[in-house]
Amino acid sequence: MIIIGADHAGFKLKHEIIAKLKEKGIEYIDVTDYAQNDEDDYVDIVKNLTKEVLSKTGSFAIAICGTGIGISIACNKIKGIRAGACYNKEVAKKMKEDNDCNVICFGGRQENDINEVMERIDIFMKSSFKGERHARRLCKITDLEEKFGEDV
Ligand code: RB5
Repeated sequence: MIIIGADHAGFKLKHEIIAKLKEKGIEYIDVTDYAQNDEDDYVDIVKNLTKEVLSKTGSFAIAICGTGIGISIACNKIKGIRAGACYNKEVAKKMKEDNDCNVICFGGRQENDINEVMERIDIFMKSSFKGERHARRLCKITDLEEKFGEDV
């Protein structure tokens, strides 16, 4: 399942992505299914978005703000979430293969080609975590999450 959410700066791109997902018959849950609100903050969508990702096996989220940076910083505060800004096709592949990302972030004000964005989402979905040395690194991230303040 794809979970999707955006702040006001990602509103337009979110709707463009949703239109493409519908065309392809791909299921999604929009956690920000309301009218554009220029007062909303990207931080506010994180709770619902990540709760869905963590509770639905095999799911991932598409999270959008103006740059893809604020939303990725906020998502990464949640234990078990690995979010990154996806700014090209190689990154789309590597963020799954190396980092096992479960949140792929976009900058709604940075993207001007919806087909290119959809290609990145497609590459991300078709890629798999490579494990091995990358798994070791993710374990170290889990240690940071769990033992920060202790001697890690
Ligand atoms: C909102 O105007 C904008 O600052 C936000 O969407 C995001 O780009 C922050 O990182």
